[in-house]
Amino acid sequence: MTTSSRRYHITTFGCQMNKADSERMAGILEDMGFEWSEDPNQADLILYNTCTIRDNAEHKVYSYLGRQAKRKHEQPDLTIVVSGCVAQQEGEALLRRVPELDLVMGPQHTNRLQDLLQQVFDGNQVVATEPVHIMEDITKPRRDSSVTAWVNVIYGCNERCTYCVVPNVRGVEQSRTPEAIRAEIEEIGRLGYKEVTLLGQNIDAYGRDLPGVTPEGRHLNTLTDLLYYVHDVPGIERIRFATSHPRYFTERLIKACAELPKVCEHFHIPFQSGDNEVLKRMSRGYTHEKYRRIIDTIRRYMPDASISADAIVGFPGETEQQFENTLKLVDDIGFDLLNTAAYSPRPGTPAAIWDEQLSEEIKSDRLQQLNHLVGIKAAERSQRYMGRTEEVLVEDQNTKDKTQVMGRIRGNRLTFFTGDINKLKGKLVQVKITEVRAFSLTGEEIPVLVC
Ligand code: SAH
Ligand code: SF4
Ligand code: F3S
Repeated sequence: MTTSSRRYHITTFGCQMNKADSERMAGILEDMGFEWSEDPNQADLILYNTCTIRDNAEHKVYSYLGRQAKRKHEQPDLTIVVSGCVAQQEGEALLRRVPELDLVMGPQHTNRLQDLLQQVFDGNQVVATEPVHIMEDITKPRRDSSVTAWVNVIYGCNERCTYCVVPNVRGVEQSRTPEAIRAEIEEIGRLGYKEVTLLGQNIDAYGRDLPGVTPEGRHLNTLTDLLYYVHDVPGIERIRFATSHPRYFTERLIKACAELPKVCEHFHIPFQSGDNEVLKRMSRGYTHEKYRRIIDTIRRYMPDASISADAIVGFPGETEQQFENTLKLVDDIGFDLLNTAAYSPRPGTPAAIWDEQLSEEIKSDRLQQLNHLVGIKAAERSQRYMGRTEEVLVEDQNTKDKTQVMGRIRGNRLTFFTGDINKLKGKLVQVKITEVRAFSLTGEEIPVLVC
């Protein structure tokens, strides 16, 4: 079958890992001759890259799928693909539920999309969910941004947090080699990107599965070593990384971040709960005291660092007192941003079948209380930027006010200022902050004096 002039649309749910996978799959589809269609209903191939981290994330995809399955009855050559974490979790069962599907593929198969589609075009209905070694991708991702880029450094997760589906759906840890990572960043630098975010579900685990020393005797097997190794790539001005796990976060890594000028002073380190008993039952492998020590150490090296995290409320058996310990941690630390969620029982995870599941009312009440505090603390944290000059990397126009551009400061807060996107896109601009809100800032460009 010829693919010329066929159009595709990808809808992505879930985390940065999924976004990065979607960009790679878009690259593969464009290599095959497909063209992007903004409107999913005009596309000949529709791909849903799915998330199953919580129940509502999973449900969303089923309602989307229902609509496309209907369309297939009128347009039989429509190709429907489900990739990502729901695909991995459900596998064959998804085909039984939605028989109109052509391809169900787990995240480890992302780079094999072309092969798998070939099988579909040969007339097969395909399920690809068996664990595989993730091959290096030879096509170029179609990246959403031309300024910032994701770079996967480690796939999968070897942890066993008792609430979490990720290890079941993303498989065991597989680190890319430092050479492959550097080569991708060099290419990104050549293409004019200014910022990279190194990605992993548990990025501090980077390199555990790699040999420790290269033939030249260079030691490259930790995230810290990787940061030193990629730091001088020409063109790249900023480096970020996510997500960090408190169990593995070292002072050596903190020191490297303080020392390396391109590494931004922003740390995303989920703590999940502020109570030691809950943390233990979550199998997180640290205490709130250890978490606090990590943040103290970061602030000792980089007093202005931004700290963000994830937290869960209403874990099975969480008492009012234990929940208050989470509030206390949030109050004490003062996060710049906190992603919060009510506990959602996930199939195949230990905590899902424990007694003592809390009611939806308690969970949503605690979520509300926590979110209220998060907003207050983030607004307090924003105050420190008032009147200060911050470096903003301009990414886009402000969609709500076309006279403004938007970008992020090194501490990751979204920042708006008046300017022409055609002149400023991809530029690092010094901006004086004139207005602060909990999660974003507004400022004015400081003109550069040319003598
Ligand atoms: N690897 C990262 C986060 C992965 S998932 C880490 O270890 O921190 C992203 C976030 O989703 C988690 O940090 C957690 O806060 C949330 N999450 C995961 N499973 C959940 C569940 N069953 N119910 C509610 N939130 C969940
Ligand atoms: Fe899930 Fe825990 Fe792995 Fe994070 S570290 S992805 S929460 S199992
Ligand atoms: Fe969701 Fe899978 Fe990411 S479950 S959060 S898309 S790893």
